[in-house]
Amino acid sequence: TDYWVVVPAAGVGKRMGADRPKQYLPLLGRPLLSLTLQNILSWPGLAGIVVALSAEDAFFSHLKEANHPKVHRVVGGDERADSVLAALEFLSARESGNTPVLVHDAARPCVALGDITALLDREVSATALLARPAGDTVKQGCDTGGATFVERTLDRTQIWLAQTPQRAPLELLRNCISQALNQGAAITDEASALEFFGHSPQLIEGQSDNIKVTHPSDIVVAEAILRLRYAPTED
Ligand code: CTP
Ligand code: MG
Repeated sequence: TDYWVVVPAAGVGKRMGADRPKQYLPLLGRPLLSLTLQNILSWPGLAGIVVALSAEDAFFSHLKEANHPKVHRVVGGDERADSVLAALEFLSARESGNTPVLVHDAARPCVALGDITALLDREVSATALLARPAGDTVKQGCDTGGATFVERTLDRTQIWLAQTPQRAPLELLRNCISQALNQGAAITDEASALEFFGHSPQLIEGQSDNIKVTHPSDIVVAEAILRLRYAPTED
């Protein structure tokens, strides 16, 4: 089956605190976004990629993947969901509404092909996401007088931490994100937009090495994971 991949890459990387958005920081000598795109371009059955970039982006055109025939770009928005929606609108004008779409964070360069295969190996209308069962005991907190205390312990066996890619048919996803945003819902991932309208995406257990590069120490971890998997070429 042909499918498209949407890559939100319009964030500023505030928590990374670097001199540029984190998707352009070097990992093993290659910009993070370049590694993520190189990874996605190796997935079987890929129709194309739509990357959502900041209107002020000054780095993307220097990446070696920028002129790849399968790589398209759109201008993203203030929140991740706005960036994803911009990419879905681009696709909507070109592709059938049933087209499967995988949304994958620019900041997750380490996702393994085995996890992608598990996500792709589903019916065309599937809604699904990679996720990890919670490893630590999960506390619900409650703020009282400037401090936080345990309200309760959640049943860890039912708690999953969402990763990406997250998968859904193009028009379903576009409608859910657009209408959820219009209604002021907090949309932190694609699944939450689908859930807002009563859908129940399937949780597919992914690998723990599909980390999101968020803080400076994540760079070191991501480099170690990538070094184990392959030796990217410098350019
Ligand atoms: N993203 C986006 N558009 C936004 C915000 C985020 O496309 N308005 C993208 C980021 O570029 C990243 C992914 O969504 O690839 C996940 O977001 P996150 O890890 O939070 O990245 P940032 O928002 O850049 O980081 P921070 O929250 O620390 O500022
Ligand atoms: Mg963010």
